[in-house]
Amino acid sequence: MPVLRSIRERFASERPLDGVAVAACLHVTAETANLVRALAAGGARVALCAANPLSTQDDVAAALAQEGMEVLAVRGEGPERYAGHVEALVAAGPDVTLDDGADLITALHEGGRAGGMLGGTEETTSGLVRLRALDLACPVLAVNEARTERAVNDRYGTGQSALDGILRATNLLLAGRTLVVLGYGYAGQGVAQRARGLGASVIVCEVDPLRALEARMEGFEVMPALRAAERGDVFVTVTGARDVLTSEHFARMRDGAVLANAGHFDVEIALGDLAALARDVREVRPLVRSYDLGDRRLHLLAEGRVVNLAAAEGHPAAVMDVSFATQALAVEALARGGFPRGVHPVPARIDDEVARLKLASLGVEIDTLTPGQQAYLRVWDDPSP
Ligand code: ADE
Repeated sequence: MPVLRSIRERFASERPLDGVAVAACLHVTAETANLVRALAAGGARVALCAANPLSTQDDVAAALAQEGMEVLAVRGEGPERYAGHVEALVAAGPDVTLDDGADLITALHEGGRAGGMLGGTEETTSGLVRLRALDLACPVLAVNEARTERAVNDRYGTGQSALDGILRATNLLLAGRTLVVLGYGYAGQGVAQRARGLGASVIVCEVDPLRALEARMEGFEVMPALRAAERGDVFVTVTGARDVLTSEHFARMRDGAVLANAGHFDVEIALGDLAALARDVREVRPLVRSYDLGDRRLHLLAEGRVVNLAAAEGHPAAVMDVSFATQALAVEALARGGFPRGVHPVPARIDDEVARLKLASLGVEIDTLTPGQQAYLRVWDDPSP
């Protein structure tokens, strides 16, 4: 993670986070370890808990704890233990939070403890939906909506890692199969493109007319989910909404259909509906639960939890380098203060710096505008000299 490393080195010499209490509710992975180490190098006191009961890499949690960091995360922790860990971070009274799904900052608001905070950051679309519905008592920087994040994390990260999770769990050959992507935001676009690259016929289901048009123009079949339900071999929800696949869809699916969710919360596939339809449920492989509907079986991956982290290792380090560089610089910006309450875009200079550093780490050089071009682009009404 060369971009994050360069930020960590600068943080270690400048100490921009000296005395700042940071609480992070993130997937506890090797990539997250590098982020929290960078924040600690900048002078922050960091505490970390999991953003999902199934995404913690226990060896990483143990290594960070050995380094002296407060880490409250165990893979497979139940809902009560998970909530207890979030509450412990709330009780510590952080100055800055980092969230992946908004559980921590929501709990701070519920406990009336968000008012004095410098602010928080949010890594996901699902989390921002929650935060925009809240009367925020502090600023939040929408890392998920940074340009670098959408391009790199959502499209290339989710595109690859969601399929990685599906393939690790099932060992399916996608070539020759029909894969249905529900949701064609940046992450859905990535899943659709990568699935096509592996030889699948891809159907896209989308409620936004412009996105649906883009999917069609990109060459994918586009149709309502109830029609796609009859056609798909593999279904991937990536919408940020709930009840995207319900009993109506399950009733039409083919024998052997595989159901995976790549959205943050386990609400996109209606798990209660699936259980209600089933005569028998059994684990046929690790992370593959088979629901016997009498005449057909449907296979649910990773309990409907975010499949790229639950069944694989999340986005590769090269992707999280960009996301977490943005997170680190967003925390630094919050620590300087001055943001009003509410959700704000990540400042454009941070986006630009991260993209520049990432290009440099890849050895890619680009052109810059000449002074003449800059002048031309400033003059919109009379371009002639
Ligand atoms: N979100 C998606 N992939 C991740 C990873 N590898 N680490 C932390 N959060 C993630």
